[in-house]
Amino acid sequence: MSQLDKDFLWGGAIAANQAEGAYLEGGKGLSLMDVATAGKKGVSRHITDGIQDDVYYPNHEGIDFYHQYKEDLALFEEMGFKCFRTSIAWTRIFPHGDEDEPNEEGLKYYDDLFDEMIKRGMEPVVTISHYEMPLYLAQKYGGWANRQLIDFYLNFCEVIFKRYKGKVKYWMTFNEINSVVFMPEIAGVLDRTQDDFKQRSYQAAHHQFLASAKAVQLGHAIDPENKIGCMVLTLVKYPLTAKPEDVLLAEEKMRYGTFAFTDIQVRGHYPRYIQKYVERQGIKVDIKPGDLEEMKKGCVDYIGFSYYSSSAATTDPHVETTGGNLVSGVKNPYLPTSEWGWQIDAKGLRYILNRFYERYEIPMFIVENGLGYNDQIDENGYVKDDYRIEYLRQHIIEMKKAVLEDGVELIGYTPWGCIDLVSAGTGEMSKRYGFIYVDRDDLGNGSLKRSKKKSFDWYKQVIASQGEDL
Ligand code: BG6
Repeated sequence: MSQLDKDFLWGGAIAANQAEGAYLEGGKGLSLMDVATAGKKGVSRHITDGIQDDVYYPNHEGIDFYHQYKEDLALFEEMGFKCFRTSIAWTRIFPHGDEDEPNEEGLKYYDDLFDEMIKRGMEPVVTISHYEMPLYLAQKYGGWANRQLIDFYLNFCEVIFKRYKGKVKYWMTFNEINSVVFMPEIAGVLDRTQDDFKQRSYQAAHHQFLASAKAVQLGHAIDPENKIGCMVLTLVKYPLTAKPEDVLLAEEKMRYGTFAFTDIQVRGHYPRYIQKYVERQGIKVDIKPGDLEEMKKGCVDYIGFSYYSSSAATTDPHVETTGGNLVSGVKNPYLPTSEWGWQIDAKGLRYILNRFYERYEIPMFIVENGLGYNDQIDENGYVKDDYRIEYLRQHIIEMKKAVLEDGVELIGYTPWGCIDLVSAGTGEMSKRYGFIYVDRDDLGNGSLKRSKKKSFDWYKQVIASQGEDL
């Protein structure tokens, strides 16, 4: 095996809403995540109707990255990060989302943030929309089910593409775009009790695909150097047995859960299996003349994806199930399971890298991967997170095999939550992913002090050796 390229982008990833806090500072408006309650293991969060007294909203303060980003970036630099992924909070730039003119203070904040990253040798990798759309757009317009959202989003894109031209080259249009069908609330499609909920969700998906394709075209026109990717949550499913029914079911779940989204964004059209699937659901998506042509013109440059775990699929109803990111599955008896029910499967990373590459032959970017763990800090303020090191080590080994033995093209690797942050799924702080511990608990107590975990020095050595010293 030879080595990964010198310019391979090692780094880490966060999202604005889970880290920045300062939810009303700098002219920021409320985002959907500002009204997401704190859940806990096995209990999902929910979106309240505006901010309610006596409810704790963990994203309001996050980990105060908004104020402490310089110190945090200094720590990332110490680890040797070549890139850093974050998102631009839409509500810092357009507090309601439908304004014509952007908020200068918000734009200035990201100017400073990107300048600081670049100064410290990190390539910014930016998610344009990471689960944090303006609340106003959800309440007043019905979220992405409303076609007007496309124009609001493109206005946002135009402003940031122009403003950060020359600073940001790597973009992703929507974080985990497949969440729009699994958790439509995240796209501002609210109220599951209504009969038309599914209809609105699928309509929202069409609008996001179209918005993404138009954003790709716009981003390329503003700066031909831009590399604009999709971002999908990979829901890897294995057949539980060699029974043909299980094999077909697992494949079907891969198709509808993951590949449909990359097929549409990489190839620029709705595959026939999706058209049939939507028909079978009795849903009629309103596709206007010209939409399909626009989608064809806006194919992405690379596939960004998150990978945490895999699960199994079977037609047998009498089997044990397990949790997972947004979607649960059938428990695979060959894999260990995290405290949150996510099954740990490093080989699944090699599997999905190969499945994507066989299908599309375009570059990929692993923009999320990691282990959520309830770290315990010792009396010296240290976290000995050998379990996290082991998780990441195994995933990096498989990633390297995919690149160096199987020949897939990979731009980089940014483990999720490189500094502890608020969990998207549960709102907990105790579901930690970081190399850096943040002193804050699930109720919002703590000094927010940062300290290095054992994995900090380990990852530093991994980057310094280009993935050789694991
Ligand atoms: C991805 C999201 O789904 O998984 C992140 O893009 C999220 O925002 C991450 O934090 C891990 O999920 P969780 O629920 O453990 O925070």
